[in-house]
Amino acid sequence: MRKPIIAGNWKMNNSISETIEFINDIKSKKINENVESVIIAPFTNLYVMNEGLKDTELKLGAQNMYFENNGAFTGEISAKMLKDIGVDYVIIGHSERRGLFNETDDMLNKKVKSALKNGLNPILCCGETFGEREDNRHKKKVEKQIRAGLVDLNNEEISKIVIAYEPIWAIGTGLTASSEDAEDMCKFIRELIEEMYNKDVSEKIRIQYGGSVKPSNISEIMEKENIDGALVGGASLDVESFIQLINFNQE
Ligand code: PGA
Repeated sequence: MRKPIIAGNWKMNNSISETIEFINDIKSKKINENVESVIIAPFTNLYVMNEGLKDTELKLGAQNMYFENNGAFTGEISAKMLKDIGVDYVIIGHSERRGLFNETDDMLNKKVKSALKNGLNPILCCGETFGEREDNRHKKKVEKQIRAGLVDLNNEEISKIVIAYEPIWAIGTGLTASSEDAEDMCKFIRELIEEMYNKDVSEKIRIQYGGSVKPSNISEIMEKENIDGALVGGASLDVESFIQLINFNQE
C-alpha cells in the first residue's frame, strides 16, 4: 500500500509573520495521519517552520537545492544544509526551475543524487507543454525527463523518490488535466519505472499529480489507481484549503 502524499508548494510566497500565522492556525486543526502532508516553503522560512512544526505530523520540504555540499557557489543552498535545518523533501526540477532558470536534466540528476546522499527525499518533477500534448509528444517528453533524472540510481535509491507529474499548461492556470489524462500519464510513468527497474519498485514508487489541484477536484484525482498524491501550489497557501486537501479521504 502506497501512503498518499500531499505537498503544498508555497513557491515565492509568505513572509515570516505570515508563516508563523499559518503554523499557529494549522496546529489548531486535526491533521489526517493516513496522509503524508508536506509544506514546501521558501528557504528563508524553513528554520521557523521546523521549530513550529516539530510536534506535528507535518513534514517540511524545500523548493530547490544545489548539488555540491559546500563551497564557492554564491547564492546556492545545499542538500546538507537542508537536512541540517530539518527538511525531509526537496523538489527537484519544477517546471519553473527548468523554464525560468535553465535547469537541465543533467544538473537535475546530480541534484537527485546529492539529495539522496544527504538523506533527503527528492520530488522529481516532469511534465509537458500544451504544444507537446497537442502534438502527441507528451509521453516522449516525460519519458525523457524521467530517464535523464534517474540516471545511475539503484533500486534502494529510487524507492525514496516521489515523482510529480505536472503538465506545464495546468500550473497556476486554473486548467486541470482531466483525471483520466492524469491517470493515463501516471500509469505510463509507473510502467516506465517497471521497465527501468522492476515490478516491485514500480508498485512502491509514489507518483503525484500537480497543476491547479484544489479542494473541489482533489477527491476525483486521488481516486485514480496510479495517482498517489498531489503537488499543490496556489491552494496550499491558505490553511483552510490545505486542510481540506489533506483530508480528501475523510468524511
Ligand atoms: P498550482 O501549482 O497548484 O498553483 O497550479 C502547482 C505546482 O506548481 O506545483
